[in-house]
Amino acid sequence: MEGSLLKEFNPYLCYKNGSLYLEGVSLSDLAREIGTPLYVYSASYIRERVRAYYEAFPGSLVCYAVKANFNPEVIRVAGEEGAGADIVSGGELLCALKGGIDPEKIVYAGVGKTREELELAVDKEILMFNVESEEEIYVLNDIADRIGKRVRVSVRVNPDVDPKTHPYIATGLRKSKFGVDIENAKDLFKKAADLKNLDVVGVHCHIGSQILDVSPYEEAVSKVVDLCDDLIREGFEIRCVDIGGGLGIKYRPEDREPTPGDLAKAVRPHLSRLDLQVILEPGRSIVGNAGLLIAEVLFVKNKGHKHFIIVDAGMNDLIRPSIYDAYHHIVPVEDRDENYVIADIVGPICETGDFLAKDRRIRDLRRGDLIAVLSAGAYGFSMASHYNVRPRPAEVLVENGSYRVIRSRETYEYILYEKNY
Ligand code: LLP
Repeated sequence: MEGSLLKEFNPYLCYKNGSLYLEGVSLSDLAREIGTPLYVYSASYIRERVRAYYEAFPGSLVCYAVKANFNPEVIRVAGEEGAGADIVSGGELLCALKGGIDPEKIVYAGVGKTREELELAVDKEILMFNVESEEEIYVLNDIADRIGKRVRVSVRVNPDVDPKTHPYIATGLRKSKFGVDIENAKDLFKKAADLKNLDVVGVHCHIGSQILDVSPYEEAVSKVVDLCDDLIREGFEIRCVDIGGGLGIKYRPEDREPTPGDLAKAVRPHLSRLDLQVILEPGRSIVGNAGLLIAEVLFVKNKGHKHFIIVDAGMNDLIRPSIYDAYHHIVPVEDRDENYVIADIVGPICETGDFLAKDRRIRDLRRGDLIAVLSAGAYGFSMASHYNVRPRPAEVLVENGSYRVIRSRETYEYILYEKNY
């Protein structure tokens, strides 16, 4: 039963003789060799997802959102399929460059870019800055002037659309800190166009994340294309429209995951009104179901009214359940026991909010067993921390039956590095 369900998460995930494999690599072998907690990502899955975007949006530029997973080797795989990068910090810019992304395919959004970050990005001659406030355009113009380079900007507008997702990751509502309100956006376009080092070339929006119903995109893109149309009529040289990321993925067995094709179908009627280069910024839908987190059961504790399975991965390794109450499907790596229990699967961190699953029906697990937490390729390692002085996990990339460690497990020496003081 579990076997056919797994394929819906990731076609490269399956049980062979009761043992879990990703792209032909045994996850229990990996855990034995590299230890746990361990993030494992499937390269072929990432490749297919980037290709699916290009098939759905021919002629577009797919800028993989590095925030979802900033491992340079993960970025490299997306880049090999033609992806650029969407970044939100100087650190992400360096990861994208390390992953081999051409600066001419990098777009940079973010409400709080520092002078140093802007300087770095201007110096590297990235494709475009998605500016989010009036003050930002003056700082950017000043930096461009000093460095002696022209920069391309898109203005991020807030189309005031409800993406029907978790409130922490809804970004396109009027009350959010992102972008400028679409009704007043023209004013900022005019001010930016008057600055001598900026070329205003596009309109950007990103309405939110983990969006399972594509209709809010249709509404947002329709408003954004109206604005582009207006701006072009007024003489602005608008050449591109960046419709952001946010396409949701399957986390629960019953979730229906929209495809890039579904998204294209919803927005194409609006995009086809104008001849604009389309930019997309998918993160989760490229890497989310490419990856999983392997953890080992440390202890099982039955309190009578409650059964706890305590594993060696905590909220410092995967924080999504703790902060968004997010559901992640969990399966045993060795599927041998026939019995099920209802348990809380929790980590070793000193907080009640440290859990991976609550009241979950799962195989009866024992000390030493391994679990796989699915859909953990996006916002897993990238949100990991050292809380409780726990070294961050190792990361492995698998492809066609072989694997490569793409980040070693951190050591105490690394955390306590003397030059940190
Ligand atoms: N573009 C911009 C401007 C963004 O802010 C984001 C995500 C993306 C693209 C990519 O969105 P995606 O395709 O991955 O949904 N930590 C949260 C998600 C935060 C998303 C932030 N912005 C989570 O774990 O659900």
